[in-house]
Amino acid sequence: MKNAILIIDFGSQVTQLIARRLREEGVYTEILPSTSASDSDMEARLAHVGGVILSGGPNSVTDAASLRAPQAVFDAGLPVLGICYGQQTMCSQLGGVVEAGLSREFGHAEVEVKTASPLFEGVWPAGSSQSVWMSHGDHVSALPDGFTVIASSAGAPYAVIADEGRGYYGVQFHPEVVHTDGGAGLLRNFALQICQVEANWSMAAYKGQAIANLRQQIGDGNVICGLSGGVDSSVTAVLIHQAIGDQLTCVFVDTGLLRKGEADEVVSLFRDHYNIPLIHVDASEMFLSRLEGVDDPEKKRKIIGKSFIEVFDAESAKIDNANFLAQGTLYPDVIESISAAGGNAVTIKSHHNVGGLPEDMALELVEPLRMLFKDEVRALGRELGLPASFVGRHPFPGPGLAIRIPGAISPEKLDILREADAVYLDEIRKAGLYDEIWQAFALLLPVRTVGVMGDARSYEYVCALRAVTSTDGMTAQSYAFQHDFLARTATRIVNEVKGVNRVVYDVTSKPPGTIEWE
Ligand code: XMP
Repeated sequence: MKNAILIIDFGSQVTQLIARRLREEGVYTEILPSTSASDSDMEARLAHVGGVILSGGPNSVTDAASLRAPQAVFDAGLPVLGICYGQQTMCSQLGGVVEAGLSREFGHAEVEVKTASPLFEGVWPAGSSQSVWMSHGDHVSALPDGFTVIASSAGAPYAVIADEGRGYYGVQFHPEVVHTDGGAGLLRNFALQICQVEANWSMAAYKGQAIANLRQQIGDGNVICGLSGGVDSSVTAVLIHQAIGDQLTCVFVDTGLLRKGEADEVVSLFRDHYNIPLIHVDASEMFLSRLEGVDDPEKKRKIIGKSFIEVFDAESAKIDNANFLAQGTLYPDVIESISAAGGNAVTIKSHHNVGGLPEDMALELVEPLRMLFKDEVRALGRELGLPASFVGRHPFPGPGLAIRIPGAISPEKLDILREADAVYLDEIRKAGLYDEIWQAFALLLPVRTVGVMGDARSYEYVCALRAVTSTDGMTAQSYAFQHDFLARTATRIVNEVKGVNRVVYDVTSKPPGTIEWE
């Protein structure tokens, strides 16, 4: 019995969610960018999997130059599920017709289930109406031989098509997003009923596999791990330490962009608690001078990324035989910069630990969390024996406070922000809300407003507060604090933090906002 599904990525922003939904069902998945899915190596890959999923993507099948699934996928005799673009390329490659839509369909749609099918079993009864999430411009207009329509919607008459004899299914909507009713159930049915794969993937299995891969990649080389003190880099360090022990040295760079007390906490945690060798570099002057007067968010990220790498390169020169750089890069960092493993998704932000890396870097990258979502990293942290309080820490971005001061930063602004952020997090902890919130932080806006303090006029900065709930950082909702919490926190910040005389709360969701402001 096979135990894996191969996902061919055509560059959809949500391809990883397909993998994630299947992992939640215990099914191991491999993702291959369609750009590297050549016929020559497909046979070996297909021999190990029970079925193939073709993802969505931003291109149009009607464009002759657009990407196609390797022919080997259809020659292998394996079940295939095409999602959105995947459905369209499958149809077009098997002899059907795809047309550019006159109207594009985005968001919620109602699908009528026409017949029973192994794909729908136990999830979508025949005759029912189901709510799905559509995002497409083109649509299938004539089916290839052997296919029938098994569900349809007003905007997409071929919403679900099937050639059950061959185990071929195509859906016009996205079953992988939570807004599709029973979407995870459809993917489960495809994997377990139609492909008949074994559901034996778990975090313990992932850990074992990751450790084996790390040993193979690193051999007897030495690794430097950039530690920020956040969950991602810490889990990366502990995982690598379990794999290769003393071949790992952690480097903690004080960029001058950290939160209050953070540098001391990180050093004592890793040196004293985990006994992992740690070099503490104070590079704050270098970072701050390079960032002086820079107000463009992407330029800030690039400067920080480049400076990080320079510091690591300099440190690596002092460690015998250091040839690898480990980073806690997560999937959301990857998907919004380039697509998973080199696909075609559009850039939203170039997160510093992905997009900003110079091409001439001397160290080879080790990124064992690259295919994981945040909550999966936490599960891996627990699997590695990290304390729950530590694993539950809110994420903190690599560029640190630099992206929480829109526009140009300065030492003065950083000091103000550090104090305001510490008061805000103190109030959150006191109210017992820390674990309910996915990420909370203060920002310092480049705006001064008039206030009255005592009998005097004040003209100071505005502090914005952000708190969101999320499961993976890809989407997020503003946390609904009680008003008295916000009022209490605002009073404390204005009273205790010199330089701030006004506090506002950000109620924007992601999308359309992002979690950080830059
Ligand atoms: P956004 O702002 O893109 O953030 O909604 C999603 C999550 O990613 C974190 N983030 C970053 N992490 N380098 C990082 O390591 C970055 O450049 C970066 N930008 C955002 C952010 O804090 C949130 O958790």
